[in-house]
Amino acid sequence: MFQVNPHYAKLPGSYLFAEIGRRVRAFQAANTDINVISLGIGDVSVPLTPAVIKALHEATDEMGTKSSFKGYGPEQGYDFLREAIVASDYKARGMDIGADEVFVSDGAKCDVGNFQELFADDVRIAVTDPVYPVYVDSNAMSGRTGSFVNDNWDKLIYLPCTAENNFVPDFPKETPDVIYLCYPNNPTGTVLNRDALKAWVDYARNNGAIILYDSAYKAFISGDDIPHSIYEIDGAREVAVEFRSYSKTAGFTGLRCAYTVVPKDIQVKGQKVDLNAMWNRRQCTKYNGCPYIVQKAAAAVHSAEGQAESAAIVKGYMDNATKVRQTLKNMGMEVYGGEHAPYVWIRTPKLGNGYTPSWDFFQHVLDNAHVVCTPGAGFGPSGETYARFTAFAAPANTDEALARLKASL
Ligand code: MLT
Repeated sequence: MFQVNPHYAKLPGSYLFAEIGRRVRAFQAANTDINVISLGIGDVSVPLTPAVIKALHEATDEMGTKSSFKGYGPEQGYDFLREAIVASDYKARGMDIGADEVFVSDGAKCDVGNFQELFADDVRIAVTDPVYPVYVDSNAMSGRTGSFVNDNWDKLIYLPCTAENNFVPDFPKETPDVIYLCYPNNPTGTVLNRDALKAWVDYARNNGAIILYDSAYKAFISGDDIPHSIYEIDGAREVAVEFRSYSKTAGFTGLRCAYTVVPKDIQVKGQKVDLNAMWNRRQCTKYNGCPYIVQKAAAAVHSAEGQAESAAIVKGYMDNATKVRQTLKNMGMEVYGGEHAPYVWIRTPKLGNGYTPSWDFFQHVLDNAHVVCTPGAGFGPSGETYARFTAFAAPANTDEALARLKASL
């Protein structure tokens, strides 16, 4: 008898940002005269930079000329981009990554969601809590997380990150096979210092686990004390896969380009696990590569002009983050993150007795300040009395949103 994948029926409601979009559209439909400002989903507001636009134009012209037209590209990405990534993101910072360990794609969200296909159905998954929902939902779709009972997946290993442990996850009681880490962290905006990240790499090596390390926000780190890549830690090449993106740093959320680094020496307890060959096989089978013109645009991000332009964009967003942090702090809120990340994480203030549940806080802020935030519960059970504000809105909108929050909270 025909059956759909039964695990989809266990997923709670809709995807977090789809649900937020639904609620905002409902509010907007009932209040057509109100200009709602989003500090919700981390979507960028600064347009593509001159170096990127120039590369797009040139590559577009190449596609219209017989001698330079390109059909299918390599599934792994063009060498010119893989080599630019290795040179500017790894070799320049003293890390040993080969171009054949870099897989270019159309998004870190897709890669991080797809990568779990390489693991057996019964591997135990650990995630920090709160967490970017893609890690959890993609494993839930494959049936690895068990049942969703009382807002918890019963087979998922949660690593709570709250103000109480300073947002540094403790090692779990049960030993996971796969550990998802994201630093700078989405949603809390907090970071792991070198010692804390080393402790996790050592833990993975000693316990036979693989780390899937999402460093999509590494460009927002200031200073060199915080690791930008997990491969800055000795031994990480044996246990870690790293995901990166052009979305937030170079304004590619609409253009789409990212990459995943899968080292060739991954091993579990001394046994080689050739995830590089497996990911290559998976990508060759299911993916035809990121468009040539987009890869040319991404390569331009690594040029001297491109790097300077991206740095200026990041600085603008971090100026917003500082304003959001300061304003919410001055309003008496408990504020975290936002120093090395474009996300500010707050403890929801007491609107009645005790901390406000995060969806109630979301609705209160939407109804009264006409500002969208992201409710912490959408990122996991430990987010229940927290909310996230992004620094990605235009500065004028950020100022206006903060003025409205001050007036209404
Ligand atoms: C977020 O707001 O958490 C991100 O924009 C989502 C994403 O990058 O997919």
